[in-house]
Amino acid sequence: MAYGLLKGKRGIISGALDEKSIAWKVALKAKEEGATFTLTNAPIAMRMGAIKQLAEQCDAEIIPADATSVEDLENLFTKSTEVLGGKVDFVLHSIGMSPNIRKGKAYTDLNYDWFKQSIDISALSFHKMMQTAYKLDAINEWGSVVALTYMAAQRTFPFYTDMADAKAVLESIARSFGYRYGKSHKVRVNTISQSPTPTTAGGGIGGFDKFYDFADKTAPLGNATADQCADYCITMFSDLTRMVTMQNLYHDGGFSMTGISEEVMALVTKE
Ligand SMILES: NC(=O)c1ccc[n+]([C@@H]2O[C@H](COP(=O)([O-])OP(=O)(O)OC[C@H]3O[C@@H](n4cnc5c(N)ncnc54)[C@H](O)[C@@H]3O)[C@@H](O)[C@H]2O)c1
Repeated sequence: MAYGLLKGKRGIISGALDEKSIAWKVALKAKEEGATFTLTNAPIAMRMGAIKQLAEQCDAEIIPADATSVEDLENLFTKSTEVLGGKVDFVLHSIGMSPNIRKGKAYTDLNYDWFKQSIDISALSFHKMMQTAYKLDAINEWGSVVALTYMAAQRTFPFYTDMADAKAVLESIARSFGYRYGKSHKVRVNTISQSPTPTTAGGGIGGFDKFYDFADKTAPLGNATADQCADYCITMFSDLTRMVTMQNLYHDGGFSMTGISEEVMALVTKE
C-alpha cells in the first residue's frame, strides 16, 4: 500500500545491482511513494545490464559513478539536479565491497592494498558523496541521507573481516558529517543497520547461510527482509522523521538487543 510519503521529492539511489539488492527494493518503493530519482552504480555494474530494467520500471535515468571517484560524484550530483529539475531531497548510499572477503583472506592475513580499497569503497565513498553534495549545495533543507551498515561495526563476526572496520568508519562518518550538515543545511544523516540479507554482497560473506539462520533464530521478530529495509529507508526519507539524525538505527528484528533465544539454546543443548 502506498502512502504518498515521497510525493514531490527528488533523490539519488546508489547500489542497485540486481533484483535482490536492497537498493533495488528502495527504488521500487520510492517510485510507489511518488518520488523521482536517478539511479547510480559503478560503471562495471552497469555492464551487467540489470539496472536498465529497473530504470525503465522507475522511469529513472542512470548516471554511472564509481563512488570512490570525486569527479564521478560531482558529475552524479550535477547531472541529477539537471535531470530532476532541482536539488535532491534524499540520497541512498547502498555500497559495499571488500576484495579481502572476495578473495577469502583471513583477518590475520589481510592484504593492505585491498584493505584500503574496502575502506575507500565501503566507507570513504560515503564521505565523498556528502562532501561533493555539500560543496555543490545539491541537497535541499530537511533532506535525508541514509547509508546501509551491519552490526559487525559493534560486535565481532569472524567472517566479516575488514568490512567490520569499514562499517565502523561509515557509521562514524554519519555522526561527524551529520553534525555539520545539520548545522549548515538542516540535512539529516543516518545509517540503517540491517539484518543479514541474501544479496550478492551479503552472500559473499563466508558462512552466510549459517549466520543468517543464527540471526533469524535469535531475533524475536526474525530477520528483516530487503523489502522491509526498503520500507524503513522510505520513512527515513519522508518528512515524518525530520528530527532523526546522526543515528545508527538497528533494523534487525531485535537481534542487537537479544542475548540468546530459546531456539538457539535448543541448538546448543546436548542431550
Ligand atoms: N546483504 C546483507 O546481509 C547486508 C546486511 C547489512 C548491510 N548491508 C549493506 O547494504 C548495502 C547494499 O548491499 P546489498 O546487500 O544490497 O548487496 P548488493 O551486492 O546488491 O549491493 C552492493 C552494491 O555496491 C556497489 N558497488 C561496489 N563497488 C562500488 C563502487 N566502487 N562504486 C559504486 N558502487 C559500488 C555494487 O555494484 C552493488 O550494487 C551495502 O552497504 C551492504 O554492506 C548488507
